Amino acid sequence: MLSPVLLTLIWSLGFVLQAFALPYHGADFSSLLLLESTTNVTYSSPSSPPQPFETILADYGTNLARIRIWTASTYDLPYGLALAKRAQAAGMDLLIDLHYDDTWADAGHQAIPSGWPTDLEGLTAQVYNYTKGLVTSFNEQGTPIQFIQIGNEINDGLLWPTGQISVNGFGPASELLHAGVLAVRSVSPTTKTVIHLANGWDEADVAYFYGGIFNVSSGEEGLGGGLQESDVDAMGFSYYPFYGTDATLTALTSSMESVIGNYSKNVMVVETDWPAVCNTTATPLSEPTIPVSVAGQEYWVQDINDVLDGINLLYPDKAIGIVYWEPGWIGNAALGSGCADTLLVTSTGEARESMSMFGLDM
Ligand SMILES: *[C@@H]1O[C@H](CO)[C@@H](O)[C@H](O)[C@H]1NC(C)=O
Ligand SMILES: *[C@@H]1O[C@H](CO)[C@@H](O)[C@H](O)[C@H]1NC(C)=O
Ligand SMILES: *[C@@H]1O[C@H](CO)[C@@H](O)[C@H](O)[C@H]1NC(C)=O
Ligand SMILES: *[C@@H]1O[C@H](CO)[C@@H](O)[C@H](O)[C@H]1NC(C)=O
Ligand SMILES: *[C@@H]1O[C@H](CO)[C@@H](O)[C@H](O)[C@H]1NC(C)=O
Repeated sequence: MLSPVLLTLIWSLGFVLQAFALPYHGADFSSLLLLESTTNVTYSSPSSPPQPFETILADYGTNLARIRIWTASTYDLPYGLALAKRAQAAGMDLLIDLHYDDTWADAGHQAIPSGWPTDLEGLTAQVYNYTKGLVTSFNEQGTPIQFIQIGNEINDGLLWPTGQISVNGFGPASELLHAGVLAVRSVSPTTKTVIHLANGWDEADVAYFYGGIFNVSSGEEGLGGGLQESDVDAMGFSYYPFYGTDATLTALTSSMESVIGNYSKNVMVVETDWPAVCNTTATPLSEPTIPVSVAGQEYWVQDINDVLDGINLLYPDKAIGIVYWEPGWIGNAALGSGCADTLLVTSTGEARESMSMFGLDM
């Protein structure tokens, strides 16, 4: 039996951990409606019969739903609106992730949607009008957006080739992002704008991007101006362990400290995951001491949380959350990694112990 002193100690420790919890414990479960409409998947937890996945996530502590939206096809606006309704009904805030593409946009793909202009002036107007219409649709259905990403993993810009930094410099990308922000602010001034980069651990890459993207002064305020520091409420980063062994927690710490030190913005790790099953010979992980296991999934997220808590000691309240990418995408368990399974549920949809991360580790 535990002594009262020990119990008090455990209680205090719990209190301290609680005090350090980040405000946002997120999950990107964008694939949910697709799965429900194309498979017979059900989700459950050891303590509950089958329930909607968002209910299970919320019960485990998820309070932020990240939802990707494409300009056409699978993850189009009606899809995003429908998923947002369910997430909000489950008690979650929304982080809407605009890809500005008819399909996946990421650090290696950023195609101009079909039917959109390709010249900078036309594209800028299109980004403004599309974004304004989209945010208005969320407002009108009663699911106002708390956070919105203007682009997804835009390290080399967006809407290529027009907005591709390595092709046309920072000017066009900066103007396109500014147009997206102006559109959001024109109809939803309380929505927080987010710029999202891949490889958040890579300080040099992050510094290169922000050093250039804010260094475009043409036009200033209106459409045609470049992205201003005041346009950006939060900086979001992907942080994965399987795309290079340089993606260490130490590197993440330096990079986040550096970018907050320079720009004083909120930061959030908006995409991450860790394998329960992986052949690490084929896919070496950036933190090899963390086990490849269900327990390891929690250690990884707890370690990211520790990095962000440490940053908040230096820069109070700047680090605001972590988002686990696609915890329930059964049938796609590798989730773009070289690992076999990074899900937080089993292949039959039962929550693994690691689902506790949303309540305990973020
Ligand atoms: C779903 O279950 C029904 C009834 O068992 C079956 O007929 C159908 O093929 C299943 N659909 C899929 C996509 O597995
Ligand atoms: C602006 O967006 C709306 C949808 O929100 C669309 O109906 C309209 O055609 C667009 N206008 C232009 C000029 O692209
Ligand atoms: C922050 O500014 C310092 C000094 O100019 C620079 O060396 C560093 O690369 C910058 N980092 C980021 C992430 O912007
Ligand atoms: C900022 O812009 C000026 C003028 O275009 C350019 O000379 C300078 O190299 C740029 N700095 C960065 C960090 O991109
Ligand atoms: C793991 O990957 C290595 C390198 O690709 C391969 O040689 C080995 O057969 C794989 N092992 C398993 C169990 O799949």
